[in-house]
Amino acid sequence: MPAIIVIGAQWGDEGKGKIVDHLAERAKMVVRYQGGNNAGHTVIIGNMVLKLHQVPTGIIRPHVAAVLGNGMVINPPALVEELDMLEGKGISTTNLHISSNAHVVMPYHLMIDELEERLRGARALGTTKRGIGPAYADKAARRGLRMQDLIEPDRFARRATAALEWINLELTSMFGERPLAAEEVIAQYAPAAKRLAPFVTDTSLLINNALKRGENVLFEGAQATMLDIDFGTYPYVTSSSSSAGGACLGAGVSPLMVKEVLGVVKTYTSRVGKGPFPTELADSTGDWIVERGNEYGTTTGRRRRCGWIDLVSLRYAARVNGFTGVALTRLDVLSGLNEIKLCVAYRLADGTITEDYPMNTEVMSGATAVYEAMPGWEDDFSAARHWEELPPNARSYCQRVSDLLGVPIDLISVGAERNDLVGLRWPI
Ligand code: GDP
Ligand code: IMO
Ligand code: MG
Repeated sequence: MPAIIVIGAQWGDEGKGKIVDHLAERAKMVVRYQGGNNAGHTVIIGNMVLKLHQVPTGIIRPHVAAVLGNGMVINPPALVEELDMLEGKGISTTNLHISSNAHVVMPYHLMIDELEERLRGARALGTTKRGIGPAYADKAARRGLRMQDLIEPDRFARRATAALEWINLELTSMFGERPLAAEEVIAQYAPAAKRLAPFVTDTSLLINNALKRGENVLFEGAQATMLDIDFGTYPYVTSSSSSAGGACLGAGVSPLMVKEVLGVVKTYTSRVGKGPFPTELADSTGDWIVERGNEYGTTTGRRRRCGWIDLVSLRYAARVNGFTGVALTRLDVLSGLNEIKLCVAYRLADGTITEDYPMNTEVMSGATAVYEAMPGWEDDFSAARHWEELPPNARSYCQRVSDLLGVPIDLISVGAERNDLVGLRWPI
């Protein structure tokens, strides 16, 4: 049962790309199971910086099949652009497989994302404006188009024309926009459809066959637990199931196949877009972390909001995902602080102190952090590859995080480069 799910434990950008790239060395397949090009996963190999949005990180390793699962919403022209970028860097994209059931992000989804955000005004969610929410909304409303439609020109034309009858009503009567011409929308996607057609297949079958052969299959989460549509800080979430259960649904595999669920945990917290964030630092320490960590979004370039690690939401993430281990990332970024804080409980608006994550967004919005402080460290340890080579205070910090979380640490990332890792317990 060698399926391993890798999931962000916070609000995204924990370093999932780097961890998946590392684990992919021993895997045969890497599967993306939700989201689309709202994701931005960075892998740094020597001087080469790769930013992946829709293509699973496994593509970098020639022996790994990269699968875009049925749970994704795919922007075809953006995917073609990403494939061209990879080929341009000498990375073969022939070992790619796209689920015929994955939904297509249509040009009007991008428009609607933008228009809805504008309409929300002060209540805007701060989406990536990649059309993700509207594409999943159409999927649920049963008027979405899938990759199997896209690659058959007649069928695509028929279904896109039917979808546009609804969409044009929305664009004109709700937003006062001009209606879109079906022929133009169809023509816009024709080149990408042709290019992607050879990759479209039954990926659930491929994945299950690999698992049957006993091969290691990695499931690469995008977004993260606190952005999950059910478990995140709704409505300030993305529109898919980014937590562990979503991997089975979004790939077509049984939960019985899952061997490990690895939580990727940044040693502090960041968030892009709006929504509650009890440990956010709106002071010079927050600015210091943003600059030292270069915390600007991979996809939109937005400044990420930063704050201390939050063990209340992390324990919740460990519970809903069933983390068997964690990869702690960006430990190096914290070097140079005199004191590091860990949020161990929330103080709610009525004064109550709780260690349990509140399942009520209003209550969560009013929560402030109760901290425990630990001494910091100064050293540069990006060359460290063993636990013993980390500064004693950094080790104590990692150990405390693991103890408060009740989950063992598998890996510690000590720099952005592929090899900047300390391995404690190898999940595969
Ligand atoms: P993802 O969305 O979870 O894959 O994360 P992103 O790639 O959006 O953001 C993580 C950023 O941190 C990237 O720029 C990585 O290159 C970088 N990174 C990953 N691990 C480390 C680390 O341990 N230390 C430092 N300094 N950077 C890291
Ligand atoms: P990775 O995979 C960080 C956030 C957006 C916004 C909310 C909804 O790189 O961790 P959406 O466009 O999905 O409808 O936006 O979710 N968001 C992310 N934040 N990392 C991501 O991906 C994100 N994908 C979406 O900023 O708050
Ligand atoms: Mg990212």
